[in-house]
Amino acid sequence: MRLDQFIANSTELSRKEAKRAISRGEVTVNDQPCRSANSQLAGHERVALSGTPLSLPGERYLMMNKPAGVVSATTDSDHPTALDLLPADITRNLHIAGRLDADTTGLLLLTTDGQWSHRVTSPRTDCPKTYRVTLSEPLTEAAAQQLEHGVDLHNDPRPTRPARITVLEDRIIELTISEGRYHQVKRMLAAVGNHVEALHRVRIGQVSLDTALKPGGYRELTCQEKDSLA
Ligand code: URA
Repeated sequence: MRLDQFIANSTELSRKEAKRAISRGEVTVNDQPCRSANSQLAGHERVALSGTPLSLPGERYLMMNKPAGVVSATTDSDHPTALDLLPADITRNLHIAGRLDADTTGLLLLTTDGQWSHRVTSPRTDCPKTYRVTLSEPLTEAAAQQLEHGVDLHNDPRPTRPARITVLEDRIIELTISEGRYHQVKRMLAAVGNHVEALHRVRIGQVSLDTALKPGGYRELTCQEKDSLA
């Protein structure tokens, strides 16, 4: 879609007003001012008008309490997917914003809005994700400090960014990270000599898993929740 069309469809502006806003430099694409009304968008760019992120009307934003044994994929020939848990009439164009391992439970976001999911998952936007982690051993003070400082992961050249830790019980902690590397939480705990027995995502940015949702349950995000991740 052309940039001016996108602005007109996602705001109250007419196409002509959208063109003017673009030529005045009020529109950014992926955080860079874009003055060309006929720029083509592929669908995953972050577009903002005077700093306000825009999305097309009719997009859907859901949260699910993902049960264990369900894969975070749109299709899978061997296992049930998160989309299989939803009524068929709402799954069109829906994708997952931030995958979880099959054995991880908790907050999963699903949307039709590619730009929004990019903002949620991109390491550049620094969106924090909080996990409740059940460990095989109590976390030592030294291990907590290492995690809070950043640890080296097996087969990964870069150390992790500093994490935040809250000890909830002897073997249960809350861990907040702002990256999403492969099996990151499990590998971080392995790097400090511990082992993850159960992993449950409780929060992404300011959006907390609705405790009324049973495993497999889902609901639409409120506007406030959706905009808090914009
Ligand atoms: N880290 C993991 O190890 N697994 C997940 O599912 C999410 C984060």
